[in-house]
Amino acid sequence: MTPLVRTLAGLASGWLAAKVFGFLEILQAGHGSASSKKLTSRRSFTRNAALGATGIVTAQVTGGFVWLLWPNQTGAFGGEISIAESSIPEPGGEPFRYAPGQFFLVNTEEDGVRALWWKCPHLGCTVPWISGEDQFICPCHGSVYAYNGDRVSGPAPYGLNEMLVTVNDNGGVTVDTNPTTVLVDQYE
Ligand code: FES
Repeated sequence: MTPLVRTLAGLASGWLAAKVFGFLEILQAGHGSASSKKLTSRRSFTRNAALGATGIVTAQVTGGFVWLLWPNQTGAFGGEISIAESSIPEPGGEPFRYAPGQFFLVNTEEDGVRALWWKCPHLGCTVPWISGEDQFICPCHGSVYAYNGDRVSGPAPYGLNEMLVTVNDNGGVTVDTNPTTVLVDQYE
């Protein structure tokens, strides 16, 4: 909504509110001169126009905050992401990298499908899977992680953090990428 439209909307709502309140005041008073009614109506208009414009701005700002902070955006990091069964690796197979969610899906013999957040627990670099080494190796300071995310070596204090995984009826999985629900060091 542009400032001009917002102003016009505020004036319109103010005019409408002034009419309604003015009518109610006339009904309540039951009498009074025409000039005093006019004055009251003008005052009401100004007051309600200001209130209307303020209300619209407040609603816009509130709506913007709710939209920004809403935790359940789907399909992007921070929300729940569905992964089709066809993308889930075979047990021990090449990790499936899903960039929008910032995770790798691995399928371990012991624990099944796990989603590993690619953010290094040391200082936050993005950790890639190195096929030739069959390990995750951080390019920043060399922390090494096994296929299941466990820390092997390097300065990282623990293994790759995990995201909650739910198995769906269709054989796929849903990964909860909300950083506040990430499981830290769950399996070490
Ligand atoms: S940020 Fe990964 S080892 Fe330092």
